[in-house]
Amino acid sequence: MEKQIVFSGVQPSGNLTLGNYIGAIKNWIKLQDEYDCNFSVVNLHAITVPQVPANLRKNTLEVLAIYLAAGLDPEKSDIFIQSHVPEHLELSWILNSISYMGQLGRMTQYKEKSQKSEENLNAALFTYPVLMAADILIYGTDLVPVGEDQKQHLELARDLADRFNNKYSETFVVPEPLIQKEGARIMSLQDPTKKMSKSDENENGYILILDDRDTIIRKVKRAVTDSIGIVQYTDEQPGVKNLLNIYSVLTDRPVEEIVKDYEGKGYGDFKGDLAIVIADYLEPVRDRYEEIIKDKEYLESVYKTGAENARKKARKMLSKVQRKVGFIPMI
Ligand code: AMP
Ligand code: TRP
Repeated sequence: MEKQIVFSGVQPSGNLTLGNYIGAIKNWIKLQDEYDCNFSVVNLHAITVPQVPANLRKNTLEVLAIYLAAGLDPEKSDIFIQSHVPEHLELSWILNSISYMGQLGRMTQYKEKSQKSEENLNAALFTYPVLMAADILIYGTDLVPVGEDQKQHLELARDLADRFNNKYSETFVVPEPLIQKEGARIMSLQDPTKKMSKSDENENGYILILDDRDTIIRKVKRAVTDSIGIVQYTDEQPGVKNLLNIYSVLTDRPVEEIVKDYEGKGYGDFKGDLAIVIADYLEPVRDRYEEIIKDKEYLESVYKTGAENARKKARKMLSKVQRKVGFIPMI
């Protein structure tokens, strides 16, 4: 039986957080043996918000190195930089032609980001989800492992696949999101009603994958909780709930068991232990990262091979799509 196909990506827009790790990357590692996996550093998406070119360059290699440090294996998966596979853009143009302005205008991420940059709203921010659909559909992807916040974009990708298939005949696989129940949405440590995000102005709100031990411990100790003072898993205690989620995902233990451990204990003990859980978890990733980021030749070989393989697959689908919409093949 042929392996099912997986695609996912993270934007190189600054340092990655524990939210990215738990919501996305961590789940990719275990898919590699069973699926035909494609993982991309989606730099084309990153320029929908202002970027300093030198930082974008640096962040792109950093995300690639984090992928590898986390356990993505170039022997098993195609790991590449999005702009090295321009077929995504060619497909995205075609998909734009069947995308409705109204539907794109309803995308939550667009609404949020456009409010932040009203003065110089760019067209790419608006069509961003169409490019994301192209990323996915061009590989005939079955499964897309992402965090909860990407669900709406996935829904659009599914709609576009269906719409194209109905209009031009069966072409695309309609992809399914793969969203883990726990950890799908890691919240800010300073405001547990907001998702943990690297664009938070308050750096105590997020933990970076590359934060050092002391920083992690400090941030966890400062995490906002409540005045109830009991470690329990309820919606009335969103801060504690979020910390319990992180604890549970990183230790692979059910929340109830952890809650039991802290019966009769206060938040101090709980946060102290959680800080160590997180620091211990991320330390080996950071150590491997330090090695990999120094080895530019290795990084280059990974992204070159990844893109070469990805392009072969992407070309096939693109040619098929071009024929269906009525473009004349040159050869
Ligand atoms: P981004 O940083 O927006 O490129 O997101 C990359 C991946 O990380 C996507 O699959 C997101 O759904 C996931 N992600 C980002 N932030 C969080 C969070 N706070 N909790 C869970 N998943 C997240
Ligand atoms: N939009 C995603 C995010 O912000 C990143 C992304 C781009 C992506 N293309 C994708 C994720 C394709 C999954 C599949 O997190």
